[in-house]
Amino acid sequence: MTPFLLTDVLQEKLLQAARAARSRAYAPYSRFRVGAAVLDEEGRIHAGCNVENAAYPQGVCAEAGALSAMVLAGGSRVKAVLVAGATAGASWTTPCGGCRQKLREFCAPETPILTASDEALGPAYTLAQLLPESFGPDHLNMP
Ligand code: THU
Repeated sequence: MTPFLLTDVLQEKLLQAARAARSRAYAPYSRFRVGAAVLDEEGRIHAGCNVENAAYPQGVCAEAGALSAMVLAGGSRVKAVLVAGATAGASWTTPCGGCRQKLREFCAPETPILTASDEALGPAYTLAQLLPESFGPDHLNMP
């Protein structure tokens, strides 16, 4: 399979979408706003923001919202992810453990996961770096 190459144009679109989503976050409890954007196999971008809840465990992460939007639109593969969080420098916002597993469902091991703040781009990882030796659909003999 030809490796997927994220162009500067698509990366910029992901960045804008994730930052715009971040600005819509509902995070009155943590005040930690997160936006996420995923690029699907058709080149479409889907975004989500975190939506917290007074019953704290019911809060939903930005990545989950972006994946939900992708599935709703008929997308089935994630080609790239960008997470925009509040912090830069030593503590860029990377997907939480649960979201890494949610992304695993739709990503390849080499899928890029980029980080950013409102001001700058942070480090980039692959899914396999963030979730090594992971369990996924292939273990259940899914194509
Ligand atoms: N959060 C996300 O939405 N995505 C991440 O990658 C990390 C954490 C949210 C969950 C919660 O609403 C807030 O950030 C603080 O944990």
